Amino acid sequence: MAKSSSSFVCQSCGATAPKWSGKCEACGGWNTITEEGAAPPIGGSATRRVKGRKFALEDLKTEDAPPPRRITGVTEFDRVCGGGLVPGSALLVGGDPGIGKSTLILQALGEYARKGGHAVYISGEEAMAQVRMRGARMELSHVPLNLGAATNVEDILATLEGGKPPGIVAIDSIQTLWTGALDAAPGTIAQVRTASFDLVRFAKSSGAALILVGHVTKDGQIAGPKAVEHLVDAVLYFEGERGHHFRVLRAVKNRFGPTDEIGVFEMTGKGLAEVANPSALFLGDRDSSAPGTAVFAGLEGSRPLLCEIQALVAPTGYGTPRRAVVGWDTGRLAMILAVLDARAGVGIGGSDVYLNIAGGLKISEPACDLAAAAALVSSVGGQPLPKDSVFFGEISLSGDIRPVPQAESRLKEAAKLGFKQAFIPKGTKVDGAGLKVTEMTSVADLLVFAPRPSQARAAKTPSAG
Ligand code: TYD
Ligand code: MG
Repeated sequence: MAKSSSSFVCQSCGATAPKWSGKCEACGGWNTITEEGAAPPIGGSATRRVKGRKFALEDLKTEDAPPPRRITGVTEFDRVCGGGLVPGSALLVGGDPGIGKSTLILQALGEYARKGGHAVYISGEEAMAQVRMRGARMELSHVPLNLGAATNVEDILATLEGGKPPGIVAIDSIQTLWTGALDAAPGTIAQVRTASFDLVRFAKSSGAALILVGHVTKDGQIAGPKAVEHLVDAVLYFEGERGHHFRVLRAVKNRFGPTDEIGVFEMTGKGLAEVANPSALFLGDRDSSAPGTAVFAGLEGSRPLLCEIQALVAPTGYGTPRRAVVGWDTGRLAMILAVLDARAGVGIGGSDVYLNIAGGLKISEPACDLAAAAALVSSVGGQPLPKDSVFFGEISLSGDIRPVPQAESRLKEAAKLGFKQAFIPKGTKVDGAGLKVTEMTSVADLLVFAPRPSQARAAKTPSAG
């Protein structure tokens, strides 16, 4: 047989090129292209057709009930998975290095084993002693968890196939895996893809629930490209700001559950603690008398979540005004600034603008627009927003405030946390859950919070965020 030729694959986006070059034409990444041996063709070469075996086709009807989900006992984790792990499924947990993926997975497996489940944890990054130390710190030393340190997929599969099939098996991390079938170095796309494929196949055939841990690269993708995401049934991201002690587990793909669910954890000295009431945590002990802060009544998955939006509008020190956003979309901020300028006459375009979601939370909901705009207007005017009030509503380019889903549960959560007032889009048909509700039609309605923004700015009132 002719020697299979090698190809050049970008480790960041997965594009193949006929020859090596310093820059990937597809994604523009520098020095990301490496030579990889061509993967063995699946089912024979393209020119030679192998005769296949017939298989029976069936309909969607099913007699047997679906197998029960495997509940780990870490409630937030189970909820984000859609109510426990599905037997035979594969789950990918991604996140920045050091964010706490290994801690989370060891904790989930530990709790599963504590309840009598058969859990196997294979570490490719840490030695057994290190994992044991971590386990001791998390008070898991006495649970019957099966621990292994290996990186070769053939070894891992031989071990798993040789014993009783595990209820849950975790591989930490896929970037350390390698298979002898390929020449490529561990961590390359070909290796990660082939190794993950073999493990997923084992999970499907044995009924074990597979958890793969993967590091996110600089540009926020797991293992470079979406190389593994299509192989697995669910993808969860574990995120958080390094300086903050709490972490958010977020589903971005889930074949067996909702994808907008989040789980909130707090990193403590003894592993991760589950946070049952995240709103209280994200609001912390806030000072509502400062101008430029607004409370957003948000929604994460099925759960309402309150958080604080902080804005600071300051005179520009240099020629080009600075924009800095933490936890929100920069493009969205630019839009809000333009709409405030065009529809309400709040001209912040020439000032430095800083926007921060307190506590390191990341918000992607458009419903946050109104809260952000209110915080900006309050900072410009140097006047705090009404005490104990929450905001939600989407702002359109015309300056209208648009209704958003699930207003009722947002208001209920606000009432539960002691808020007295809510500013919501006009046309939201809800009973106020005990709050004083003010309906807003357009961004110009926000001017009540800063009667004379231009004067306030001319006087250069320091407006704290
Ligand atoms: P780790 O799970 O190793 O991160 P990852 O697997 O995502 O790379 O978590 C590393 C951090 O968590 C490390 O900075 C120490 C901290 N940590 C705690 O604060 N408390 C604990 O009980 C544990 C086990 C870790
Ligand atoms: Mg780790």
